[in-house]
Amino acid sequence: MRVLVVGGAGYIGSHMCKLLAEFGHEVVVCDNLSTGHQEAVRWGQLIHCQLSDTVALTRLFSRSSFDAVMHFAASSIVSDSLTDPLRYYRNNVSDTICLLQAMNEHGIDKFVFSSTAAVYGQPKQDVIDETHICLPITPYGKSKLFVEQILNDLTHAHRLRAVSLRYFNAAGADFGGEIGESHDPETHLIPRVLRMAAGDPIKFGIFGTDYATPDGTCIRDFVHVNDLCAAHLRALEFLGRHSGFHAFNLGNGRGYSVRQIVSAAEEVLGRKLNIPEYDRRSGDPSILVASSEKAQSGLDWVPQYPDIRQIIESAWKWHSHPQF
Ligand code: UFG
Repeated sequence: MRVLVVGGAGYIGSHMCKLLAEFGHEVVVCDNLSTGHQEAVRWGQLIHCQLSDTVALTRLFSRSSFDAVMHFAASSIVSDSLTDPLRYYRNNVSDTICLLQAMNEHGIDKFVFSSTAAVYGQPKQDVIDETHICLPITPYGKSKLFVEQILNDLTHAHRLRAVSLRYFNAAGADFGGEIGESHDPETHLIPRVLRMAAGDPIKFGIFGTDYATPDGTCIRDFVHVNDLCAAHLRALEFLGRHSGFHAFNLGNGRGYSVRQIVSAAEEVLGRKLNIPEYDRRSGDPSILVASSEKAQSGLDWVPQYPDIRQIIESAWKWHSHPQF
């Protein structure tokens, strides 16, 4: 297949390009490089393009034909979305509408969308499946849910077929160390602890030790980036057989607390880390764990790297020798 990977210069998008190329697909990357890295685009041509630039988008779709589009580009810092909601609605909703419009005009009918556990809002139970009510509490989560709703409508009005993949906590990196997670600023737990360990001037600490969890720290479901990408490949195959809109959770179904992550990082590093403890970060649910049974049965997706140590080892391979 010839696949347009929007946001292919970013963390998950670049891993996707590598996997698509490994499976013999032809990749074209569309990215505005606002948070992505040119150096991460190693599998396929890079088209530097703003999704809001409808003229450039039309040019892109008129010059090349694509069998499918995977859309990773988004603003994704939950706390930023509270202080700058307009940016989130513009980048995540308006720009996606521009992309969908161009796809519609050029008859491209397969779309795989990067969504998030944040569409659920405050969890009503410890393990969340897709029947859980969607009541996002942040503009980030709302922006992703709006797009899911738009996609659902489009699948009824047009030929579009769409899969939305709701990631829990994406983590880890390419096992060859070629690409990895490189955000500025970095807000996520595993890269922050590892970058501090690598000597970056990051003031890492544990946010909140008084949650109603066994060790008092939040619990999350970490899923290896390559497993996320494998699910996208499965979603592409699924769209060959199914019409309509479909949403799937992607996680391992097992939670690790922030303290357990710090201990696992210490094991991987072979040394103790001196970690301060801070107050809670606002908006953090105490426990977020996915039921991915629907993805396992519907997409025939089974995570290959559920071991948290392996996830952290792969992340450390990158953060100890980052290439960009
Ligand atoms: N944490 C720390 N110290 C840090 C960074 C994070 O203790 O320096 C804690 C957080 O407070 C949280 C846990 O580590 O308890 C995980 O935090 P991350 O920022 O790594 O990830 P989140 O769980 O906040 O984010 C994930 C996804 C988002 C999604 C969100 C929904 O990455 O896309 O869950 O709540 F929107």
